[in-house]
Amino acid sequence: MTITTTSPPTSNSKEEEHIDPYMNNLDLDILIVGAGFSGIYLLYNLRKKGYKVKVFEGSNGLGGTWQINRYPGARVDSDQPVYQLSIPQIWKEWTWKEKFPGGEEIRQYFDFCDKILDIKKDVAFNTKVIGANFKKTEGKWMIKTNDGRITKAKYFLPCIGFAAKRYIPDFPGIETFKGKIYHSSEWPKFEVDVSEKRCAVIGTGSSGVQIIQEWGKRAKSLVVFQRTPNLCLPMSSRNLTAEEQNIQKHEYPNYFLRREAHFGGFVFGFLPRDTFDDTEEEREKIFEAI
Ligand SMILES: Cc1cc2nc3c(=O)[nH]c(=O)nc-3n(C[C@H](O)[C@H](O)[C@H](O)COP(=O)(O)OP(=O)(O)OC[C@H]3O[C@@H](n4cnc5c(N)ncnc54)[C@H](O)[C@@H]3O)c2cc1C
Ligand SMILES: *[C@@H]1O[C@H](CO)[C@@H](O)[C@H](O)[C@H]1NC(C)=O
Repeated sequence: MTITTTSPPTSNSKEEEHIDPYMNNLDLDILIVGAGFSGIYLLYNLRKKGYKVKVFEGSNGLGGTWQINRYPGARVDSDQPVYQLSIPQIWKEWTWKEKFPGGEEIRQYFDFCDKILDIKKDVAFNTKVIGANFKKTEGKWMIKTNDGRITKAKYFLPCIGFAAKRYIPDFPGIETFKGKIYHSSEWPKFEVDVSEKRCAVIGTGSSGVQIIQEWGKRAKSLVVFQRTPNLCLPMSSRNLTAEEQNIQKHEYPNYFLRREAHFGGFVFGFLPRDTFDDTEEEREKIFEAI
C-alpha cells in the first residue's frame, strides 16, 4: 500500500494531542459514561471520526459488568463467535479458549482490546457521574462527577448497561442475620471457602444458576430458594482451537451483520408460531439447529 500525503505529520496532529481524561474543566464533543462493551465500541468509532471524546467509568477497570460480576461460575451464555466486538483489529487477532468463556477469559479479552486500541488513555476510572444538565444557552451538557469536577460535552452518551444498579432486597431481619451474606455483583476478591458451610442461594436467574453449579460441587450443603422455576439447558461448552476459529474468520463480517439484524443479537430471530405448533421432531430439529 502506498500512502501519499502532502503535509508531513506535525507535533500538533490529532494523534499526538492527547487530553487527560482526569483534567479539570474538560470541554468535549462527546462524553461516554461506562467502559463496558458499548462504551468501548462507541469510543473506538467516535475517536476514529475525529471527535474529542472521553469515557467516565465508575469502577476501576474495563469490561463493565464483567469487571463488577466476579461471583463463582460467572460465565457467558451466548456462544462464540457471537459474544465479541465486531472490530476487525480485535477479532482477527484474538483467539477464544472456550465456546462459552468464563469471566476471567472475558477480562483477558478486555485487556487485549486495550492493548490493541489503547482505550485506557481516554478513560477516567473511579469517576462516577452523579448528575447532568443540558445548558441551553451554551448548547452543552454540564456533567457532574463524584470527584467534584464539571465536564462540558455537546453529546452525552450513557452506556451504563441494564444491570449496573445493584439491587439489595429488603428482607425483614437481614441486618441481624448471623451468617455471611454475599451479593453476586459485590463478590469479595478472595475465594469463599464453603467446604464446611451450610449455604443457601436465593434466586435462579442466570447468576443464581451459575453460583449453584459451582457451590453445589463444593459446599457442605446447599439449599436453593426459588420463587419461579426457571428453564435451564445443558450448555455443552467445549474448548475451541485456534485452527477452527481461523478457518471461520472470513465469515465473521457477514456473521456480525446477521447478528445486528435480529432482536436478540443472535444470528437467529423469532419464529412466528407457538412452540407446540410444531411436531416433536420439528421442534427438536429447530432447537438443535439454533
Ligand atoms: C455473568 C454474566 C453473563 C452474561 N452473559 C451474557 C451473554 O451471554 N450474552 C449477552 O448478550 N449478555 C450477557 N450478559 C449481559 C451483559 O450485561 C452484556 O452482555 C454487556 O456486557 C453489557 O455491556 P454494556 O457496555 O452495555 O454495559 P455494562 O457492561 O453493564 O457497563 C456499564 C458500565 O457503566 C458504568 N456506570 C454505570 N453507571 C455509571 C455512572 N453513573 N458513572 C460512571 N460509570 C457508570 C458501570 O460501572 C459499568 O462499568 C452477561 C452479564 C453477566 C454479569
Ligand atoms: C480445556 O482446556 C483446559 C486448559 O486450557 C483443560 O484443563 C481442560 O481439560 C480442557 N477441557 C476439555 C474438555 O478438553
